[in-house]
Amino acid sequence: MSVQVKLAYEPLNEQTVLDVIKPLNFFETASSNELVVQEIGDGNLNLVFRIQDPHTKQALIVKQALPYAKVVGESWPLTLDRARIESDALVQEAESVPHLVPKVYYSDPQLAVTVMEDLSDHVILRKGLIEGNTYPQLAEDIGTFAANTAFYSSDFYLHPFEKKDRVKKFSNPELCKITEDLVFTDPFFNHDTNDFPSELQKEVEKIWTDQPLLREVAQLRFSFLTRAEILLHGDLHTGSVFVKSDSTKVIDPEFAFYGPAGFDLAHFFANLILNHLSQNVHAREPFHRESVQSYLLQTIEKTWETYRKTFKELWHEKSSDPFAKTEGVLENFLQYTFQEAIGFAGCEVIRRTIGLAHVADLDSIKQKDIELFYKKKALELGSCLIKNQRKFTSITQLTEWIRGA
Ligand SMILES: Nc1ncnc2c1ncn2[C@@H]1O[C@H](COP(=O)(O)OP(=O)(O)OP(=O)(O)O)[C@@H](O)[C@H]1O
Ligand SMILES: [Mg+2]
Repeated sequence: MSVQVKLAYEPLNEQTVLDVIKPLNFFETASSNELVVQEIGDGNLNLVFRIQDPHTKQALIVKQALPYAKVVGESWPLTLDRARIESDALVQEAESVPHLVPKVYYSDPQLAVTVMEDLSDHVILRKGLIEGNTYPQLAEDIGTFAANTAFYSSDFYLHPFEKKDRVKKFSNPELCKITEDLVFTDPFFNHDTNDFPSELQKEVEKIWTDQPLLREVAQLRFSFLTRAEILLHGDLHTGSVFVKSDSTKVIDPEFAFYGPAGFDLAHFFANLILNHLSQNVHAREPFHRESVQSYLLQTIEKTWETYRKTFKELWHEKSSDPFAKTEGVLENFLQYTFQEAIGFAGCEVIRRTIGLAHVADLDSIKQKDIELFYKKKALELGSCLIKNQRKFTSITQLTEWIRGA
């Protein structure tokens, strides 16, 4: 779609957002003053507007970055460039998996705006899982998403010049710094940003003083800082996935950048593991609990198996790597990606328990002593994943271990 009007940056409101979408001529019947506009953003960082034609029910989404983090305010300035990264990443992802991301109708880096497909008929996966729902397509879709976006952005496929151009294009230092601090640093030190109940002090201090654990975290952090392997989504937790029974859409890639291949899968797995723990409370009826928890572990298994199978097929069909046919090269890549993903997952489990940003899965447990019990379990689990990452040789070994933990 083409747009004639160029607007200077200012935070949009329910009136001015109409000026942005008017030139798109998206709505077939309604005039501007009939459109129903709502700010629906429940996230931490950005404005999200939904605009609907009341006659046809046709709708679209306008997402705009603010020059600061919405949840904190102007005291936490944050680059507007994240909007460009988000829309460019969605467009890039759509080249290989168009059915797994929202369509981008228009973007304007100056306004820090992305206009995209309305997915209001989907629900946020975290919410659906907490309610005890299961989604049969999910594992295959996320495995397919991760394998395709990884392969097609990697040196296994791209010309080295093109790869390096993309590394530049997706350089995302401010958003990476948030991950470097909140995932890989602060939770492992006595830092102000941490947030945990005083009853966990002993368990948290154990983490802060566990030298073998800290050495592994340092290594994982260094990987995140330095290994520009593939274009990552960068924030693939269950709040970044929209689902319904027959559809999965990965949203919100504003943290996208070139990083280590295991990182996205790790965050998806870690958030399923946290939900698995929380189902001991949320799913009260034993039969339902068992079936939801089995579903979650099967989802981890099937996601990895789909990733591995899809990546292998792409490698054999399309890899331009001179060592693509050398025995063991692909297997080495998949093995270190898998093992490092386990380490990254451990960091995510820990930071979601004691760091700045928690997950509703555990925080919504109403009874304090039960919440503390499962948070202690999460810390043990996260630490074990980090320290034992290289001992896991198969996905079922991992899921069996989680089942018994
Ligand atoms: N394409 C869409 N269709 C329908 N609703 C959407 C769409 N994109 C976002 N939303 C709604 O807006 C909410 C916030 O979106 P999003 O996670 O992209 O924002 P954010 O500010 O980047 O949040 P976060 O704090 O998670 O980074 C979503 O949880 C969802 O309810
Ligand atoms: Mg976001």
